[in-house]
Amino acid sequence: MLETRCKLAICIFCFQALSLEAHSVEYYVAAVYEHHAILNPNSTALWDRTSALDFMSRNLDIYDEQVIVAKEKGAQIIVFPEDGIHGFNYTRQSIYPFLDFVPPSHLLPWNPCLEPYKFHDTEILQRLSCMAAKGTMFLIANLGAKVPCEPHDSRCPSDGRYQFNTDVVFSDNGTLVANYFKQNLYFEYAFDIPPVVQHVIFDTPFASKFGIFTCFDILFYEPAVSLIKKHGVMHVLYPTAWMNQLPLLSAIQIQRGFATAFNINVLAANIHHTKLGMTGSGIYSPLKSFYHYDMKSENGKLILAKVPVNPSEETTLGHDEPTSFVNSDATDSNLHNVFTDGQACEKNERAEYCRGSAIRNQILPSSFQAEMMNDNFTFVPLSVNEGEVQVCAGTLCCFLSYRKAILSNELYALGAFNGLHTVHGTYSLQICAVVKCGGLEPDTCGHEVTEASSVIDIELWGNFSTPHIFPLLLTSGVTLELPDWWGWKGNYCYMHKKEMASALVTGALYGRWYEKD
Ligand SMILES: *[C@@H]1O[C@H](CO)[C@@H](O)[C@H](O)[C@H]1NC(C)=O
Ligand SMILES: *[C@@H]1O[C@H](CO)[C@@H](O)[C@H](O)[C@H]1NC(C)=O
Ligand SMILES: *[C@@H]1O[C@H](CO)[C@@H](O)[C@H](O)[C@H]1NC(C)=O
Ligand SMILES: *[C@@H]1O[C@H](CO)[C@@H](O)[C@H](O)[C@H]1NC(C)=O
Ligand SMILES: *[C@@H]1O[C@H](CO)[C@@H](O)[C@H](O)[C@H]1NC(C)=O
Repeated sequence: MLETRCKLAICIFCFQALSLEAHSVEYYVAAVYEHHAILNPNSTALWDRTSALDFMSRNLDIYDEQVIVAKEKGAQIIVFPEDGIHGFNYTRQSIYPFLDFVPPSHLLPWNPCLEPYKFHDTEILQRLSCMAAKGTMFLIANLGAKVPCEPHDSRCPSDGRYQFNTDVVFSDNGTLVANYFKQNLYFEYAFDIPPVVQHVIFDTPFASKFGIFTCFDILFYEPAVSLIKKHGVMHVLYPTAWMNQLPLLSAIQIQRGFATAFNINVLAANIHHTKLGMTGSGIYSPLKSFYHYDMKSENGKLILAKVPVNPSEETTLGHDEPTSFVNSDATDSNLHNVFTDGQACEKNERAEYCRGSAIRNQILPSSFQAEMMNDNFTFVPLSVNEGEVQVCAGTLCCFLSYRKAILSNELYALGAFNGLHTVHGTYSLQICAVVKCGGLEPDTCGHEVTEASSVIDIELWGNFSTPHIFPLLLTSGVTLELPDWWGWKGNYCYMHKKEMASALVTGALYGRWYEKD
């Protein structure tokens, strides 16, 4: 009797444990593949369709292998990068034999593997469809598409067709369920901008509200932000071919920043080509990052991770009260007491800190201009080991409270930029960024840096005019950290981080002011 009672008690306990489990976060298994694409050695030459297909099949063979590996590991969805099949640098004419016909949405769903003869020039779609079916997983890939114009289309290009940079989505039985035409082209002369912005949203049996956009799209409102704000997307599928640009726009930095900013999951697959500065893929949920960055080898990389079905269930970041090491009730009036023209030394009672500073013997200007990623930033140096600095650019004022936990002879500076970025794309920015400079001279601030040795606790904030801020934290060796807390208090957007695992390279609040573009 006693024994039965005990068993019963254990069972009840088990049942409770199980039901607790049932209430905890649900996951699906996702894969992204950073692909070392075999690139067309002469993408301006005119190929015939057969040679073009032969060429592209070499990349597709690699996709095939990766789907099999991903299947063995339980993947339910896989994302391949932008340009991974055909490569890049084509002209409008030279890409033509590399384009598949992609049927318009009203002719979907269609299963190219099962019904290959339904449309001509769909060899790539057929192979991708068969891969998805064989792997029984959702598959997202990028290819070039040709779409003949409808009659009387006044925007139709003179050759009678559109050529789109296209992402295709296959279900786990090979059905083509969606396609997305890239909106924000990055100097891609082979492709057209779609006449209407595409908002592609779809569900899967394991999670709902997937959205998709490509590469440069991540910096623009349409369709990226509107997918989330208007359509409630919770999982972003993100094929990209991203050339890293430090200190602010390494691929993994902006991927992480986007997932953090919107509290969603991002499944990002990049091309791998170290000579082109292309590496950096990952699977990001609000609180976790599984990423790959590798400038040492030319190998592809399959990343697998469990992803929360409902990303907001995983979230605490941005909702907790901040645990600040400085006065977190800063208002305009007491800020004036704290900051003195970038010269925290004068305010610091322990003056030996100033004399003992890592960058002693050097006379640093209280503020200076330097170019960072082609933008004219105003900087103030972090000239002591612990203090507060402030810098303004137009109506944006940036503040930093910092404490160097591990000291070294390195120059850091707080920079502000508020204006229109005009090189390689035109877009409005408001940025507060603390960066490690390239050397000890002020004019090296803003240079590309990947390694650092100063571990610094930071609290960074600014009075931004845009609500669209991407928090970025990059540490030595191009590694990522998440802020302990970030969010708005009044008119100020804040980010805090203490006890980083590695030395600081960049801590930034990267604001996009879409309306000002
Ligand atoms: C590439 O192809 C173009 C057009 O056929 C030709 O003019 C050019 O010489 C080729 N370049 C190389 C490096 O093969
Ligand atoms: C593509 O063109 C760019 C700019 O002309 C060049 O820097 C790059 O090396 C080219 N890439 C390939 C793979 O040909
Ligand atoms: C194949 O997948 C599509 C999309 O998920 C679904 O609508 C369809 O019912 C599936 N077909 C079969 C035969 O399972
Ligand atoms: C950068 O901005 C400062 C202040 O607005 C200005 O004095 C300087 O000329 C600018 N430098 C460049 C290179 O545009
Ligand atoms: C930000 O603060 C500065 C300094 O107090 C002020 O001049 C500026 O107008 C503020 N900007 C906004 C957008 O409120």
